[in-house]
Amino acid sequence: MCGIVGCILKNNDKNVAPILFDCISKLEYRGYDSIGLATYDGDIHIKKDKGKIDEVNQKLDLPDMPGNFGIAHVRWATHGDPSKLNAHPQIDEKMQIAVVHNGIIENNSKLKADLIAEGHTFKSDTDTEVIPHLIEKYMNEGFDLEHALRKTIELLDGAYAIAAISSKEPDKIVATRKDSPLIVGLGDDGYYLASDSPAILKYANNIIYPEKGEIVILDKNGVVVHDEFDNPINKEIDTIDWTPEMAEKEGYDHFMIKEINEQADAVKRTLTQKDNIQKIIDELDDLSRICFVACGTSYHASLTGKYLLESLAGIPTDVILASEFKFSAKTLDENTLVIFISQSGETADSLKALDVANKTSKTLGIVNVAGSSITRRAHYVIQTQAGPEIGVAATKTYVSQLSAIYLFAALLSDNQELLDELNKVPDYIDDVLKEIDLIKSMSERYNYAKDFFYLGRGYSYPTALEGALKLKEISYIHGEGYAAGELKHGPLALIDEGIPVVVVIPPGDSHKKTMSNLEEVKSRGARVLAFGSEDDDELDEKATEVFKINSEVSEIIAPLVYIVPLQLLSYYITVEKGFDPDKPRNLAKCVTVE
Ligand code: M6R
Repeated sequence: MCGIVGCILKNNDKNVAPILFDCISKLEYRGYDSIGLATYDGDIHIKKDKGKIDEVNQKLDLPDMPGNFGIAHVRWATHGDPSKLNAHPQIDEKMQIAVVHNGIIENNSKLKADLIAEGHTFKSDTDTEVIPHLIEKYMNEGFDLEHALRKTIELLDGAYAIAAISSKEPDKIVATRKDSPLIVGLGDDGYYLASDSPAILKYANNIIYPEKGEIVILDKNGVVVHDEFDNPINKEIDTIDWTPEMAEKEGYDHFMIKEINEQADAVKRTLTQKDNIQKIIDELDDLSRICFVACGTSYHASLTGKYLLESLAGIPTDVILASEFKFSAKTLDENTLVIFISQSGETADSLKALDVANKTSKTLGIVNVAGSSITRRAHYVIQTQAGPEIGVAATKTYVSQLSAIYLFAALLSDNQELLDELNKVPDYIDDVLKEIDLIKSMSERYNYAKDFFYLGRGYSYPTALEGALKLKEISYIHGEGYAAGELKHGPLALIDEGIPVVVVIPPGDSHKKTMSNLEEVKSRGARVLAFGSEDDDELDEKATEVFKINSEVSEIIAPLVYIVPLQLLSYYITVEKGFDPDKPRNLAKCVTVE
C-alpha cells in the first residue's frame, strides 16, 4: 500500500537520486501504479509518472537528478486513478514543499474545501495533496518545517507515514507516522527513512522505530526525534540481521520462485524458536480460549492453528478475519489469548483489532518483520524466520507461520511425536522441490482454465483455501477452495466437463472420505489433479494427474508440505500466461488501509 523512502547524505557533493532510486525499487512490492522522486539542489526537482518502476525509469532516467537529499514514493492508488498528476511526491502551489505519503487521509475532502476557500489551488485527485498545502499554510504563518508538519498532523484523520522536504528550509527531511509503517536507518554515509527494511538493508542496518505522533528530523549530522509534546527523545537503536542479498532475486526469474525454493530453510530457522515459544507458554496460565486474528494467507495459517489447538490441546479456538473482528471483541476476557498472525506486522485491519484485544486479553503476535507495529504492540511475540519476502504472494512466510503455530501447539500439548515430525519437514519440502519439472508440465496442461476448484478435508482444508488464493491472486484464474465434504451442499453444481479440481489427499483419517469426494467430481467430468502419498496407488487409477509426496508425510503435518506443489502450480501457470507473479494487479504486499 505505497512505499516511501527518504535519504540525506553526509557528503554534500554526492547525488542522492541513485540511492533513492535503488531504495524505492526495493519497495515496488508495496505499490506499482506510479513512482516519483523529489530531490533538492537550490530548487526542488521532481520526476514522476504512472507505470511500473522500469517503465518510468526508461522514460525519465530517475537516478539522474541533482542534490544530496530527497524523498521517493511508489503508489498503490486509493484516491485518484494511477496518473502522473496523482503520483507522489505531491507539492504545494509554489513547488517549495514536496511530500510523500503512505496511508489514507480520511478527512481530505473537508480539508481540501477549507484550503480552496482560503485560496489554495489543487492539481491532483489525491488525499495526500492537502498535506503540502497545509505545511505551506503553516510555514507562511511563520512555523518552521518541523512545526508546520506538527500543526498539519493535528488536522489529519486516518493513517499516514509522511516525509517532507522544503526549499524554504533546505538540508533536512522531516517525517512522522500514525498507523502506517516508517523506519529510520542510521547508515555510514547518510540517514534514511523507509516504509520497510528491505529498502535500506544495503545502506543501514541500525534502525529506529518512530511511534505515532513523533516527528523525525534528518539532516546530514544525524537524526533527532521529538515526541508528541515536542520534547527531544532518545530512541532505542535496533540492529536488523537481514542481509541485502536476502532482498535480491539472486539469479531467479522472480522473487516468488526464489522464496518458494527457500521454504525448507525458512522452516528450519523458524523451528529454532522452540525455546522462546516454550518461555511464552510458561507465562500463560489460566488459558481457557484462543482466538486467532489475521487476514489472507495468514488467516489460512490460523485455520490450521485452530484444528491443531482444538484437537491436540483441547482448547476452544476461534479464527477471526481481522476486518470482521469488532463483532467478537466483546467475547474476549483475561483468559483468552488472542494470536495475531501477520507477515508484515503492519496490516491495518490486524493492528486495529490488536489495539482492541490488548484492552481485555493477552495478545501474541506471530510476525515475520522484526520491529513492525504488531511486534511492538502485542504482549508476546514469536518471530518467524523466513527472511524478507518480496513477492506479493505469501509463500515462505506461510510455511514459517505454520511452523511457529505447530511448535506452539506441540509444546502446549506436550506432544513430542509432533515435535519430532516437525524436524523432518524441511527434508519433505526439499523432496517436493526436486520434482519442480512435474508441476511445470502439469501447469502447461491446465493454464487454459477459467476456473479451478481446490478440495481438502480437515487439516487439508486450509491448504485448499491457500492453494486457491495463490492461483487467483497471481494468475487471475478463478480458484475456489472448499472443504471437500461441503461440495455436495451447493458448489458441486459448478463442476462440469473439463474443470480442473485439485484434490489435496494425504494419507490418514480423512483419506477415505476425500476419495469419495474425488469420485464425485470425477464422475461429473472434472479433471482431477490429485496431490497425495507416493504409495497411494488408487490415485493413479482415479485421478487425471497425480503428484506424489513422501508417504511419511502424515495428515497432520501435511499442510506444511502439500502447499508447496500448489504454490508451484500457481507460479508456473502465471508465468505461462505472461503475467508477473511478483506484482499482481491491484494488490500490494502490505495492506496498511482498512
Ligand atoms: O502481512 P499480513 O500477513 O498481515 O498480510 C495479510 C494478507 O494481506 C496477506 O496474507 C495476503 O493475503 C497475501 N499476500 C496473499 O498471498
